[in-house]
Amino acid sequence: MVDKSGSNHRVRYNFSITKLLFWSLIFLGLIVFFFFRSPPSPSPSRRVLRGGVDWENSVRQSGLSRSKGKRVLVTGAAGFVGTHVSIALKRRGDGVVGIDNFNSYYDPSLKRARNDLLRREGIFVVEGDINNAPLLRKLFELVKFTHVMHLAAQAGVRYAMKNPASYVHSNIAGLVNVLEVCKSANPQPSIVWASSSSVYGLNSKVPFSEKDRTDQPASLYAATKKAGEEIAHTYNHIYGLSITGLRFFTVYGPWGRPDMAYFFFTKDILKGKKITIFEGPNHKSVARDFTYIDDIVKGCLGALDTAGKSTGSGGKKKGAAQLRVFNLGNTSPVQVSKLVSILEKLLKVKAKKQVLAMPRNGDVLFTHANISYAQSEFGYKPTTDLQTGLKKFVKWYMEYYSSSKGKKSAW
Ligand SMILES: NC(=O)c1ccc[n+]([C@@H]2O[C@H](COP(=O)([O-])OP(=O)(O)OC[C@H]3O[C@@H](n4cnc5c(N)ncnc54)[C@H](O)[C@@H]3O)[C@@H](O)[C@H]2O)c1
Repeated sequence: MVDKSGSNHRVRYNFSITKLLFWSLIFLGLIVFFFFRSPPSPSPSRRVLRGGVDWENSVRQSGLSRSKGKRVLVTGAAGFVGTHVSIALKRRGDGVVGIDNFNSYYDPSLKRARNDLLRREGIFVVEGDINNAPLLRKLFELVKFTHVMHLAAQAGVRYAMKNPASYVHSNIAGLVNVLEVCKSANPQPSIVWASSSSVYGLNSKVPFSEKDRTDQPASLYAATKKAGEEIAHTYNHIYGLSITGLRFFTVYGPWGRPDMAYFFFTKDILKGKKITIFEGPNHKSVARDFTYIDDIVKGCLGALDTAGKSTGSGGKKKGAAQLRVFNLGNTSPVQVSKLVSILEKLLKVKAKKQVLAMPRNGDVLFTHANISYAQSEFGYKPTTDLQTGLKKFVKWYMEYYSSSKGKKSAW
């Protein structure tokens, strides 16, 4: 009996050792597998971009302003609006440091090409995420920013049905992170950031005024921008941050976004591909208050130049600070069918059109801005009509996509 149970124990003991050895080997195998699969260590040039003396010098240099100029951190600097705003600021003598994560929501090679343009203007764009608090704090350590132009966001209305988390990541968590770092900075910067006309959602009263309700968003994108406006209120109220929100209305122009209708219509018309024009119930046309990029840039600079100082320091509020929201639109909505006919004339190609009922995926039927508030506060006055603006866009498009850089990504 004793012997039998002893041999039983031995068998069990041997079995446990075999099992242990087996699992150790599996474990070791996994370690070796993941070690060799991990991405290679960054090349020296990449390492310089992420830190080190050269990197710090590039940030400092880029942030230098001419006398009395502002020092501006531009988030989303490699984006469409970010590129144009950064260049305008730099050219008038402000110090500009950009940050962008170069994500692949749309062709990142276009963002890289915009970055080349920025580099030629003396603007350094840090490759990083606005959710990276230590990185943002480091930038504030290197440059005493007077202003933050916060343009980084997950844009696009329909993509929210595919990747809702990206909207929460950039438009909510990212915004909070930017405001957290700004509130603790000493001195606190003044903040101007991009909200959107989409906050007007299902409103039917036109033109849209800043005083109108904004509690019926039609997309998650719109809901995150509306949430951003409420978050801005909180940081203004608790920490004395000066914050200005800008509700952009369908911005278009050279270096624009490939996910927007004017851009992919151009591409598809040239390729002879069918384009889809949506219409509302009872064949109602869809219309947008298309706003040319140069007008938007003027609005951004106007908002920046009239922004009051933040009042807090060391994370504590010292007094009431400015909180504003402005519409930046063109005040003359144009039907999408008209946009197509302008493009047909400019491209000298007839579009193959199909008209479909607008799906309920976040788009609204029309947008129309009342801009009197921005006009009275900083003289905002758009001057480019759709025909003129599209002509400039088409010129850029043809040049860009016939160059070697553009050819690789578009065709
Ligand atoms: N273009 C328009 O018609 C329009 C209309 C209304 C509002 N807006 C708003 O204006 C701003 C600029 O828009 P745009 O048209 O230039 O868009 P864009 O996509 O070209 O630019 C946004 C940039 O932000 C970057 N980015 C996104 N998430 C980031 C993150 N977590 N960290 C770092 N960088 C990040 C992207 O890589 C991109 O380069 C956005 O806030 C957008 O929501 C634009």
